Amino acid sequence: AYKHATREPNMTTHKLLLLPGDGIGVEISREVERVIETLHGLGGANSFEVEIDLVGGAAIDAHGVAVTEEAIAKASDADAIIFGAVGGPKWDNVPYEIRPEAGLLRLRKDFDLFANLRPAICYPALAEASSLKRELVEGLDILILRELTGGTYFGEPKEIVTQENGEKRAVDTTVYTTSEIERIVKVGCDLARKRSGKLHMAAKWNVMKSGVLWRDVTVATHEKYAPDVELELILADNCAMQLIRNPKQFDVIVTDNLFGDVLSDEAAMMTGSLGMLPSASLGAPDPKTGKSKALYEPVHGSAPDISGQGLANPIAMIASFAMALRYSCDMSSEADIIETAIAKVLDNGLRTADIMQSGLTKVGTEQMGKAIAAEIQSAMA
Ligand code: IPM
Ligand code: MG
Repeated sequence: AYKHATREPNMTTHKLLLLPGDGIGVEISREVERVIETLHGLGGANSFEVEIDLVGGAAIDAHGVAVTEEAIAKASDADAIIFGAVGGPKWDNVPYEIRPEAGLLRLRKDFDLFANLRPAICYPALAEASSLKRELVEGLDILILRELTGGTYFGEPKEIVTQENGEKRAVDTTVYTTSEIERIVKVGCDLARKRSGKLHMAAKWNVMKSGVLWRDVTVATHEKYAPDVELELILADNCAMQLIRNPKQFDVIVTDNLFGDVLSDEAAMMTGSLGMLPSASLGAPDPKTGKSKALYEPVHGSAPDISGQGLANPIAMIASFAMALRYSCDMSSEADIIETAIAKVLDNGLRTADIMQSGLTKVGTEQMGKAIAAEIQSAMA
């Protein structure tokens, strides 16, 4: 843990808990620390107190659990949790209950981080790096709003039982209640209002009872809460197809936990690489302080195939930190500066391997982080 000296009497100190996790999570987290150091070096009215702890496989190795009670306590004390990535082949055989992902799921559930914002923005410089044609993705700016604390991820029963005939039977349960759907749809309406005013809701009401409830509650909530927003219902499979056919028809897409997991990976590829997509997971505002618990993480995983080689793209992680500044620290101008710095570095032709194009400059994690930090520095100087 480290603390930066206070420079100004009216300084606001933001408490951050950095959980790098496993694989490339560790490497890209270092670049976020670099950005924090850079903001510090520039002074100003904001300072950060950063705690670092283990999560995922790293925590299993050290403590036998994917997240310790001590880390949960630190998380509960922090203004924002900045999360890297968890998992890897090393932990493939640990029991399901203590697997690395359990640490992330516990943080989401314990802090009721139900609203997961996954913006997919195609930086102009990367339109060519997408697997879709340039004209389909150039200027793309959509937001997948994924419900994060219910549905198939947490529903009970969730089990594998051996039947009398010796055959195994596996069950996952998709459960949603009215209030769970209502609160996420309201967030969707609020976000749509701040953007183009258009909201899609993706579900499978033609096959799933939970889908029927999603449809009915969405329609009712929209009518009561945000009739000014343009609402379209879309079957989740059609949504997956339409995202590839013509992604720019969408603005905000609200959907459940499992569809949101899948659709957000799909949306990520439109931006050029999974290494570009940040996310914010927000809880309900505390009735006393008005503040929401929040966790920020790149959408990509721990990428064991490239970890430890300094090749990972730190942009999704740095952009996740920018989201933390915007939503948890009331520092939107600094968030803008970071996002502009990312765009500039891309404009200047720097590319990590995942977004490399011929004729441009291939860099590693650290070089990319340093270049972004330098742009931030010159923008704020
Ligand atoms: C994500 C990830 C996680 C999920 C995994 C790591 C548990 O894929 O955040 O999208 O499935 O939610
Ligand atoms: Mg996922």
